[in-house]
Amino acid sequence: MTAKAQTQLDLKAAIEARRAARSFRRDPIAPALLQEILRLGTRAPSGFNLQPWRFIVVQDPDKKQQLHQYAFNQRQVAEAPVVLICCGDRQTTNQENIEAVIALGREHNAVNDDFANYMRNSIPSFFEIIPALARWKLGSIAMSC
Ligand SMILES: Cc1cc2nc3c(=O)[nH]c(=O)nc-3n(C[C@H](O)[C@H](O)[C@H](O)COP(=O)(O)O)c2cc1C
Repeated sequence: MTAKAQTQLDLKAAIEARRAARSFRRDPIAPALLQEILRLGTRAPSGFNLQPWRFIVVQDPDKKQQLHQYAFNQRQVAEAPVVLICCGDRQTTNQENIEAVIALGREHNAVNDDFANYMRNSIPSFFEIIPALARWKLGSIAMSC
């Protein structure tokens, strides 16, 4: 199957037809299709458009076999032709990345000077708050929500 041969479903039909797949054919995935899947995955929204994800593409059978044990020995991890590991990037709030996101936003007229400064000043502190939550008791988080 190539990227062009994809079936088009409307959103409602796609949501209703979606299922968790647990058995996979071993047929290789065409590189163009894999690229397209990754490209579409990165269209997902993220806070401040920081896009804090990094993907590891695992295709080597030995590596998939090693990975299988870290996925509760689920057969499908070794069976699928491609396994995608989605990682959260904790360095995403560094100034270099924030400037790159601001530049992208400016290209699309989505970020003006005020908002750019707000992003520079606020994003690092927003994300610094998160580790502090780990020290809270579960009960106090539930009560404050
Ligand atoms: C965060 C998350 C983790 C999941 N982990 C597994 C998993 O490790 N193995 C598995 O077979 N299914 C996994 N599932 C799939 C769920 O079991 C499945 O979505 C649920 O049973 C409902 O079935 P459906 O997706 O076919 O409607 C996971 C789903 C989510 C949302």
